[in-house]
Amino acid sequence: MINKTFKINDIINIKNAVLLAPMEGITNLPFRILCRELGADIVYTEFTASEALVRNIDKSLRKLKLSPKEHPVAIQIFGSNPNAMAESAKIAQDKGADFVDINYGCWVKKIVSNNAGSALMKNPLLMAEITNKCVNSVSIPVTVKTRLGWDKKNINIFEIAELQEQAGAKAITVHCRTRDMKISGNADWSYIPEIKKHITIPLVLNGDINTPEKAYQALQTEGADAIMIGRAAVGNPFIFRNAKYMIEHGTPPEPVTIRERLDICLKHLSLCIEYQGQHGIYEFRKHYSGYLKGIHNASNVRQKLVIAETFDEIKDLIEKFYEETQIYYNNYNNLN
Ligand SMILES: Cc1cc2nc3c(=O)[nH]c(=O)nc-3n(C[C@H](O)[C@H](O)[C@H](O)COP(=O)(O)O)c2cc1C
Repeated sequence: MINKTFKINDIINIKNAVLLAPMEGITNLPFRILCRELGADIVYTEFTASEALVRNIDKSLRKLKLSPKEHPVAIQIFGSNPNAMAESAKIAQDKGADFVDINYGCWVKKIVSNNAGSALMKNPLLMAEITNKCVNSVSIPVTVKTRLGWDKKNINIFEIAELQEQAGAKAITVHCRTRDMKISGNADWSYIPEIKKHITIPLVLNGDINTPEKAYQALQTEGADAIMIGRAAVGNPFIFRNAKYMIEHGTPPEPVTIRERLDICLKHLSLCIEYQGQHGIYEFRKHYSGYLKGIHNASNVRQKLVIAETFDEIKDLIEKFYEETQIYYNNYNNLN
């Protein structure tokens, strides 16, 4: 039996915690609510630029809107200016975040060229200064998310982890890749036990957890106090419920049925419409392929779904598709 506790001050105290990773363009309010309902213990917003927050840019402030249904939730911010970051941490606190998370891991050129995200791994002292300023500007905890290092020749996570704890970070998530790997190649969890030897704050393992079995294995990694799942939740938010089942029982859960996948797809869409209106229908289009993945004739219906304009139209298409899949799979089973 796994028995790990993820504890941040007296705000977070979760047994065998499975977290939803921050993902730009994905972890908006509707998706976070859905993942919480399906078992994610903590959810993170998409990252938001501190420079935009301090300038009151409406689009960025909107990303910070939270729902009472999603707590505990962390607002993630990024930037390279300690003062702007501290001010943004305060804005995140005012918006109701349970804690603020700082992004020190983003590989994207636009972010790195502004000395933010993973670029800060090249400057651990500035990184520590930013964290410390944020810590001193808010009363809620500040956590950080980073990587192993800039590249294989510059793995400095041990030094960074120590400095971050000294700066006042209350937990550290490590995406077990270097910056040059972006999100390809294999995440290397073998660094986790050694990182933990350098810190006393909780350590969250992230990278390539994409099945309940892998979640089970990841949480058993020595030094991992919690695990965080990103891409595997896209079109498959059941991963949280299933991972938690596997962690609790040590055996895999029952497979998710097509009916349930389609029901959750429609529920996700309804949440998008509730929070974003018609725009939610357009935003949701990128999620169909995930929800329909592997189902017979999915590409056919997806082509129709991505041009549908109303919820009723989409629901009809999905129900018709479900009936067709039932006929197909019944015939298939009878043949075998
Ligand atoms: C589409 C996408 C957007 C992402 N946006 C963010 C982000 O806003 N903040 C962040 O810290 N990491 C971001 N990441 C990285 C993820 O949080 C995570 O570290 C990475 O995907 C590895 O975990 P996984 O293998 O479970 O996906 C993003 C990843 C993807 C695929």
